[in-house]
Amino acid sequence: MTETRPPQSAHLEAILLVGGQGTRLRPLTLRTPKPLLRTAGVPFLAHQLARARSFGVRRIVFATSYRAEMFTEAFGDGSEFGLSLHYMTERSPLGTGGAIRNAAEALTCGPDAPVLVLNGDILSGHDIGAQVRTHVERRASVTLHLTEVDDPSRFGCVPTDTDGRVTAFLEKTPNPVTNRVNAGCYVFQRSAIDRIPKGQVVSVERETFPGMIAAGETVLGYADRTYWLDVGTPAAFVQGSCDLVLGHLPSPALPGPTGEHLVLPGAEVSPNAKLSGGTVVGARARVMSDASVHGSVLSEDSVVESGATVHESVVGAGARVCSGAVLRNVVVGDGAVVGADNELLSGMRVWPGVQLPACSVRFSSEI
Ligand code: GDD
Ligand code: MG
Repeated sequence: MTETRPPQSAHLEAILLVGGQGTRLRPLTLRTPKPLLRTAGVPFLAHQLARARSFGVRRIVFATSYRAEMFTEAFGDGSEFGLSLHYMTERSPLGTGGAIRNAAEALTCGPDAPVLVLNGDILSGHDIGAQVRTHVERRASVTLHLTEVDDPSRFGCVPTDTDGRVTAFLEKTPNPVTNRVNAGCYVFQRSAIDRIPKGQVVSVERETFPGMIAAGETVLGYADRTYWLDVGTPAAFVQGSCDLVLGHLPSPALPGPTGEHLVLPGAEVSPNAKLSGGTVVGARARVMSDASVHGSVLSEDSVVESGATVHESVVGAGARVCSGAVLRNVVVGDGAVVGADNELLSGMRVWPGVQLPACSVRFSSEI
């Protein structure tokens, strides 16, 4: 008889959701999907893959859609990372639930096995092993990692009872009932994934979880207060990169010893320049004399000229910040030029290739 299923893996298998368009991170994500943006010197996903591997995961299915081919180019079959990687691509985005269902076609485990599912834009220090153990011991259908945030309205708000059972799932509600939110890491029973309708657009947050709760299935919360960050906005992306460099979240994927800054091979930093706050200076980038770069990401081949100030900002690949310019909380797209003495503040985004002339009049999004 012909074997129709691939051989079962002894290790926990995982699905990584990486099909979103990363719209809040534009213009950084116009060319590169969010999970592949360089974070502390390596593609963001490298941190998540290394972490999953440290908890015994060996086989991961990527649920891809937007710029799917770039994931294969970046990670291949995974052997370089000690992993076996597989790719399931949606022809058009199927939403989080549809993507999980579609990716499950490439799993090898049986219906009673737990499967780890991860959002592809999360840095988390939580104990995945303990989450899996809780799930198995309590015989749950799904176990959600929960964390606490100041503004739960931007996330999935998840109240639980005293026993840890999830009593409701309120995605992006304007009236959150608790600060406890979905942290984007689930342990599913494989059989629960198989019940998601196939080939349809489904939201796990708006349909699958509320449906499972209404049906009386065991939907558990695994709450903790370790490091947690969704890097979906420019400010959070910069923070995540800096936190990794500063060692606030240890990552096996860091490309070398870090501290106040990480300077990648081929970069040139003037001895008179000041780098601080977990700044990354990308490969072949240049930081000239008396420039001050704090808590920022300078991408490969970018230039910060003398006397410029770059704080909590991202400077795209090949972009140039001319002398005397001041950037605070700004994203400069690839190849853009910020002319001398411009002052750009709070949330401004300079689109790729745009050239802002040198100026004495200052630009600001603040009134
Ligand atoms: N394959 C695929 N297809 N992946 C998708 C799709 C899709 O159609 N839509 C979204 N994703 C992926 C994204 O790439 C990301 O990794 C993940 O699913 C979550 O999408 P986000 O766009 O980042 O969602 P969010 O941050 O607004 O909200 C989600 O995460 C929060 C925690 O960070 C929700 O799960 C919230 O409930 C949760 O609190
Ligand atoms: Mg997100």
